[in-house]
Amino acid sequence: MNRKPNVAVVGATGVVGSTFLKVLEDRDFPFENIYMMASAKSAGSTVTFKGKEYVVEELTEHSFDKPIDIALFSAGGSTSEKYAPIAAAHGVTVVDNSSQWRMDPEVPLVVPEVNPADIQWNKGIIANPNCSTIQAMVVLKPLHEKYKIKRVIYSTYQAVSGSGVKGINDLKEGLKGNDLCQAYPHPIAGNCLPHIDSFLDNGYTKEEMKMINETHKILGDDTIKVTATTVRVPVFDSHSESINIEFETPFELEDVRKALADFPGIVVVDDPKNNVYPLAREAAGKDEVFVGRIRRDFSVENGINLWVVADNIRKGAATNAVQIAELLIK
Ligand code: A2P
Repeated sequence: MNRKPNVAVVGATGVVGSTFLKVLEDRDFPFENIYMMASAKSAGSTVTFKGKEYVVEELTEHSFDKPIDIALFSAGGSTSEKYAPIAAAHGVTVVDNSSQWRMDPEVPLVVPEVNPADIQWNKGIIANPNCSTIQAMVVLKPLHEKYKIKRVIYSTYQAVSGSGVKGINDLKEGLKGNDLCQAYPHPIAGNCLPHIDSFLDNGYTKEEMKMINETHKILGDDTIKVTATTVRVPVFDSHSESINIEFETPFELEDVRKALADFPGIVVVDDPKNNVYPLAREAAGKDEVFVGRIRRDFSVENGINLWVVADNIRKGAATNAVQIAELLIK
């Protein structure tokens, strides 16, 4: 593209949508015109971007009649289901943060550090992976290349910001002693809920199946054995993950550490004797994936344990989507 793109932000009033704006501003994303879109409820309200106020428009079937090159969507699955194809039919490239299109074989699922080439076969929609999957992929990629991953066990500790405003309010109120259950079936303050998204007939939650299926799609390898337990914890920002990996080939811990430290987007934070390891509060507001507690799993032949933390709204959603948009205009 030899001019600056016209950009639409769909869901501009939401938790992820407003972070799209922050990240576009932080990374000085080039644009000619930018349009803010949300539901009828927000039409006419304003959002501030780069010091300027923008009026929010209602998303309609005609929203993409004007020339728009890239649309960043984070307005829920049903909105993406209806409007992403309309946008794509108008020549817009949609980067969609919902789970609606992720497993569609016609839609690339992209983490820019991991599988950037996949954006080339997009047909107008590119899916942004699940927040928990994104941070895991950045870490798994260099290790899969070097040692071939045989099996992965994910155990997640996920922040309430992943549930939008309702999740944040449930925890805020809960901490004041008011048990609010707008986002979850149980109080989140003082609890760990082994329940993210709905339960399926196989006993897993949708969130767990997203991590399993998206891992295969992004790494382009269905032979990796993957299992997951995803847990909502009383933390506002950043998802933490315990990742247990079994490799096909032997490894040296120092080489693993180096492979991780050398990979773009990863910061190794690993000095446990001095109480230094990745922490949710320190990862909040950052774009990198933080890895620590790097240690051998002595219970299997070529096993390792990692503790992986990232801001779920930034790298887990908005930053990853903006990085995809950056690849599109490259
Ligand atoms: P609105 O604020 O007008 O409801 P969150 O995930 O933080 O709750 O944010 C969801 C975002 O998606 C909001 O910006 C919300 O707009 C937007 N949204 C929800 N439903 C629709 C819809 N049907 N059409 C357009 N935007 C929608």
